[in-house]
Amino acid sequence: MTKPSSSLIDCALDAIRTGKLVAIPTETVYGLGADASNRDAIQKIYQLKGRPTDHPLIVHVQAPPSGSKDLEKDWLTILSPWTRHIPESALILIKHFWPGPLTLVFEKSKLVLDSVTGGQATVAIRSPAHPLTQELLHRFGGGIAAPSANRYGRISPTSAADVDSEFPNNPDLLILDGGPCEHGIESTILDVSGEGPPKLLRPGSISPSMIKASTGIDVVSRGNAVNHPRVSGTHLAHYAPHTALYLYSESSIVSQLDSLIHELPKAKFALLVWEQEHSHYEVELKAYLNNLTFIALAMDPAQLAKQLYRLLRDLDQGQYQGILIPSPPKTEAWDAVRDRLQRASFGSGPSSNNHVSS
Ligand code: TXA
Ligand code: MG
Repeated sequence: MTKPSSSLIDCALDAIRTGKLVAIPTETVYGLGADASNRDAIQKIYQLKGRPTDHPLIVHVQAPPSGSKDLEKDWLTILSPWTRHIPESALILIKHFWPGPLTLVFEKSKLVLDSVTGGQATVAIRSPAHPLTQELLHRFGGGIAAPSANRYGRISPTSAADVDSEFPNNPDLLILDGGPCEHGIESTILDVSGEGPPKLLRPGSISPSMIKASTGIDVVSRGNAVNHPRVSGTHLAHYAPHTALYLYSESSIVSQLDSLIHELPKAKFALLVWEQEHSHYEVELKAYLNNLTFIALAMDPAQLAKQLYRLLRDLDQGQYQGILIPSPPKTEAWDAVRDRLQRASFGSGPSSNNHVSS
């Protein structure tokens, strides 16, 4: 059930208070939300999503009012029911990046339900920037636990219609329609629960070098992190479309298409190419024009992140035998998009066993 307008916030508030599920818009992707302190409501999230119950959820919290006279004190008050300890560096990150697309993993307080944290000693928290969800959180006063509002292992939804297509005509799910998501991929996750510098658990639109430039804080990569907690997004088969997705390198695309089309001469493929390469590929792949639909991509990581899931969802409806997408450059600016593409490629297709080709 999708409804726009402000009276919808009243319905959403009522649903959250009475232990029901509400799909919430955020600046990253839509979340499948429930009262984080209601055990039965949390179970409904796992059931509807089909997610294993040991995969922890992010708790979404309100931000202090815009005229706050003491931001630090207000954030500490908002976080106190959820966390045992807030390191100095985490407070700096919060003041710079919240509300926004950054999730922080803290030592959890005794009050946090095991079903929210998957039984771990830590809890992931973020304050999302979307005004509708902020209003809902503000009026609710508590935390809303929410994973991305997709079925387990599938592409995150970036519009209310996408949520509806994941859980079609579900009378038990209220969808708060906040329009298309601004960033289009999930938040950056940093673990600030242990000793030492924050550890990157999932790349997102806030990168380690942006954090360093605006706060002076060094973020270490997961590779250097010892005993990092589970992040379900780190399972390889994640964010996957039903259609097989192949990542290609510019040097191998001709031979890759040769062998695909040799095996399936009548098949149609969606070939995504960097905008500036478009005309060059049309000439180079002349022999296969009947098999190919060309789609030009702007070579800009933020723009591609914003379009990526929308594009994959639309192409998934397009009866293609496969989707071919160029491997993004191996630079930090592309880390989040590259991460999602590699997982999508790995888990894609009817049998979910494709391999990343580069
Ligand atoms: O942008 C986002 O983060 C979206 C919006 C809705 O906020 N949410 C989202 O939730 O992507 P989800 O559940 O799809 O991904 C959250 C990730 C999961 O991979 C989960 O394992 C990890 O956060 N996570 C949650 N609690 C954690 C914890 N205590 N320690 C480590 N990872 C945790
Ligand atoms: Mg997810």
